[in-house]
Amino acid sequence: MYLYPLWIRLWHILNALSVIVLIITGITMLFGDNTLSSIGEEQPAVVRWHNIAAVILTLGYVIFVTGNIITDNGKHYRIKTMKDISGTGEMMKYYLSGIFHGRTNPFKISFDQKFNPLQKIIYFKTMYVVMPLLILSGIALMLSEERAQAVFGINGQLITDIVHIFMGSIVTVFLIIHICMSTIFSGGKAHMRAVITGFSEADED
Ligand code: HEM
Repeated sequence: MYLYPLWIRLWHILNALSVIVLIITGITMLFGDNTLSSIGEEQPAVVRWHNIAAVILTLGYVIFVTGNIITDNGKHYRIKTMKDISGTGEMMKYYLSGIFHGRTNPFKISFDQKFNPLQKIIYFKTMYVVMPLLILSGIALMLSEERAQAVFGINGQLITDIVHIFMGSIVTVFLIIHICMSTIFSGGKAHMRAVITGFSEADED
């Protein structure tokens, strides 16, 4: 079943790589030494790499949102009624216990629903709540304090910093859970293959 079109796969690679660079450089900036490595340098290398990855992530995010608006991939992220996420409890039970007792996955992938209800909630919140806040707070930190206040009406760097670090931490936790769910928790390499080839081996799940 062809569920991951080329644009999603390209966006996903770009997104994954930039997020990994952002996490590594972000942690380095938070706990490490940010001094300049050579005289005449305007920014420490770690800040430069963080900014480059942030620009790539932002461009990728624009592609992701636009793609979801102009193609029908967006339907997988729509949560209009409780019916769209019914079965969340069952999925939680499966991931927390059923999977370790060899039960079969209660969710069956289809063209209309490629994400199980739990994935749908997590992907929606990460992509449409956390990522915009992460990107906007990052832009605010890149701008000077006065410009940030003029553009976003946010006063002071501290609150922006806190929002940025908090959202970055959520994306880091998301990534760890996301990788676990795509590999060990899904019982094989089928999910990984799907996001590389575009084809889901739906019956394996
Ligand atoms: C090394 C890093 C990553 C790996 C190995 C990975 C793995 C996967 C796999 C196997 C899928 C397809 C199965 C599924 O839908 O669950 C997928 C889809 C997805 N991943 Fe990742 N991922 C990574 C990084 C990320 C990051 C950093 C984000 C966002 C911050 C992300 C967001 C998504 C989204 C939104 C989808 C669904 C795309 C769609 O079909 O609309 N992934 N990922």
